[in-house]
Amino acid sequence: MSGGRLITFEGVEGCGKSTQLLLLARHLQRRGIAFVTTREPGGTALGERVRELLLDPRLVPAPAAELFLFEAARAQVVAEVVKPALLAGSTVLSDRFADSSLAYQGGARGIPAATVARLNELACAGLVPDRTLVFDLDVELAFGRARRRPSTTADNRRFEDEATAFHQAVAEAYRDLARREPARVAVVDARGTPDEVHERTKAAVADLFP
Ligand code: TYD
Repeated sequence: MSGGRLITFEGVEGCGKSTQLLLLARHLQRRGIAFVTTREPGGTALGERVRELLLDPRLVPAPAAELFLFEAARAQVVAEVVKPALLAGSTVLSDRFADSSLAYQGGARGIPAATVARLNELACAGLVPDRTLVFDLDVELAFGRARRRPSTTADNRRFEDEATAFHQAVAEAYRDLARREPARVAVVDARGTPDEVHERTKAAVADLFP
């Protein structure tokens, strides 16, 4: 019996996707729909170790090395968690998935999309999400707080400015993806209260749970 769906949550930092994953999980629970949740990078013992490498500010991986590390964590979570759950008929909610690599390593770091897509295919063993939710929030809004911190001055704001450009590229890559794959990728307006966004999230997956 394979009634499980793979639903992935994507967007720039600060878009609220992790909160929305929790709210959708609660909703599925109330409806008696079996599910598991996971996240990338991470979700397995190996993946969580790789996550530490990826997020450590003392390490500066070359773009290709960064991509390989994300793909390594992805291959492991697909083999260990996602595939077995789907085969058992369970729905999977993943906080980030393959599209993060298309947006970050592809769109923002500049690795050709076709290259990222091929590695994604290998890591995912051909698995494609049934629905990908892209939580769309103005990057300035999401990063406003970081830039207003008192420690950010005219002398040290280059990184803040670069970070904004980087995340603008990420956001644009996500929108591009939604334009190219409208049946799979749904853009969810992430403005408003968590409850308001939750209503939009439910609407964006309603056809998967008739
Ligand atoms: P995390 O702390 O989980 O951020 P968030 O709460 O925004 O998901 O860190 C994950 C970071 O890794 C995030 O900045 C996005 C980035 N990332 C990639 O660049 N490529 C990927 O394939 C994935 C899964 C994440």
